[in-house]
Amino acid sequence: MEEFAKFRHQLARPIEDKIRELQRHDRLKHMIFGSQLSPEILEKLRRNADMIRNMARSRQGNDRLRQLLPHKRAMLYFTQPSTRTFLSFMAACQILGITCNEVRNPETSSEVKRESRMDSIRMFSSYFDVIVMRSKISDFAECCSYMMNELENQEMRAIPIVNAGSGSDEHPTQALLDMYTILRTFDFDETSASARSRLGRLKEKYSDLKPGPAGKTYLFCGDIGRGRTVRSLAATLAQYPGVRMFFVAPAHEVLKLDAEMKDRLDHQGVDIYEFTSLDAKLDGDPILSQADCVYMTRIQREHNSKETEEQIANIDLAPFKLTPDRVNTLKDYAPIMHPFPRDSVVGEIPTEIDSDPRAMYFRQARNGMWARAALLVHLFDAVDSLYLAYHDVFGRAQD
Ligand code: NCD
Repeated sequence: MEEFAKFRHQLARPIEDKIRELQRHDRLKHMIFGSQLSPEILEKLRRNADMIRNMARSRQGNDRLRQLLPHKRAMLYFTQPSTRTFLSFMAACQILGITCNEVRNPETSSEVKRESRMDSIRMFSSYFDVIVMRSKISDFAECCSYMMNELENQEMRAIPIVNAGSGSDEHPTQALLDMYTILRTFDFDETSASARSRLGRLKEKYSDLKPGPAGKTYLFCGDIGRGRTVRSLAATLAQYPGVRMFFVAPAHEVLKLDAEMKDRLDHQGVDIYEFTSLDAKLDGDPILSQADCVYMTRIQREHNSKETEEQIANIDLAPFKLTPDRVNTLKDYAPIMHPFPRDSVVGEIPTEIDSDPRAMYFRQARNGMWARAALLVHLFDAVDSLYLAYHDVFGRAQD
């Protein structure tokens, strides 16, 4: 795109070079790619999120949380449809006392007067302290972060950019909440009595099960090629050792794992397998029975061209639905995840699965609020204040 031409060289660099400039020492400066979420940063964000979640249980805790960032203003610039990401960012801001503002329809902004997108962003940065943005243009958020860095180098006002979904490319804050859910699920250290007894039983049955995301098998199913949540989460998980990934998608060019992502994961040492049905087997055993975590996605119809529309309409999607029979073959502890929305017509996860103890998708969505609040505290470097507030409320700081 012409207006991003100036960032051509920066965009073409290997991801490792880009990541360095999106951080300030060991803290994130902008949130653009899933692979920025290293195990160390995730551990920090997880701790923040757990503290916020515990504090939010009481009125006193909520009062203290609202005093953390009342001097900050956020712009939610969402020019693509969104329910969960938008509302959970808004709720996260409200929890922390951040004032929230939104532009969802670019026709109400000066873009109709031929203002460039980059000028619009720079204007937002004059009035707000963080921009959370979702766009159908893949490189937009990344270019905005480079523009902010350039302004910072010129000692001008610069603010954090958060990518809340960029084209079919990346959705790093979804990866963050997915990882928060995975870290909590594989912690095997739940405190509630019912969770303890359930996990107690599971621990007996799966005695060699180790805590944490490393060494586990993750099964992704659906629109692998265009699912930005899959792309970001896979890039994050790939940083843990011994990870195996199963990708289950129709054998169609746009839906299956694309070559670039495959190369990248290969390069990171992930053991990758591709299948065209949830009933497939590997080494004689059903893949579903080997998965430690199942991540379902919907077919992203909004990205269809006229040609793919017809081709995809003719694909039988039955092999990509998580029916009760298929769920019965899963391990007892394997979380069933979905970034949502699920497709109510296709029914990749039928509603009868919702009451299964492994169905994690509604909890996963609520985790998004805690995880995004944790990210805002991190970006605004307010972690020390969070620890102090936690200490005031509970009388001790969390390690
Ligand atoms: C996802 C997205 O927008 O990429 N939704 C979300 O943010 N939870 C997934 C999707 O739309 O399928």
